[in-house]
Amino acid sequence: MESISSHMRQDHVLIDGIGARAVAAAEAGAWPALEREASEFLRRLRRHIEIEEQVLFAAFEQRTGMATGGPSVQMRVEHGQMQPILARMEAAVAARDGAGYQGATRALLEILVPHNQKEEQMMYPMLDAAMGDDAQALLADVRSMFA
Ligand SMILES: [Fe+2]
Ligand SMILES: [Fe+2]
Repeated sequence: MESISSHMRQDHVLIDGIGARAVAAAEAGAWPALEREASEFLRRLRRHIEIEEQVLFAAFEQRTGMATGGPSVQMRVEHGQMQPILARMEAAVAARDGAGYQGATRALLEILVPHNQKEEQMMYPMLDAAMGDDAQALLADVRSMFA
């Protein structure tokens, strides 16, 4: 049976792959490919963050009462730190600035890589444990938002 952990981990892997293709396109100066891959990367990462904040973390905070000071609070802070960098990436694509896109991606990954590790090692397992029998219903909500 799929868990919240495995579902969200798979989404990290998928988004990472698109991000790598966007960087390769930026390096090669392949503008149509960069526009396509970067917009897909940004769309999927923003949706992933939205699902975490509005569905998963909200359920976790309600279930555990850890709405302040818990792990989801730190994850929300890190999402907030990513937002201006995502805007920089979008601007670099619009300006066909491959070096700028690569620089912004490096800045994003400094936050995103450890962020995803913390989610996979701590946040998602805590979510699965806290939700117990309700984890599958929550996962169904998540799947419908990804559709
Ligand atoms: Fe996250
Ligand atoms: Fe995540």
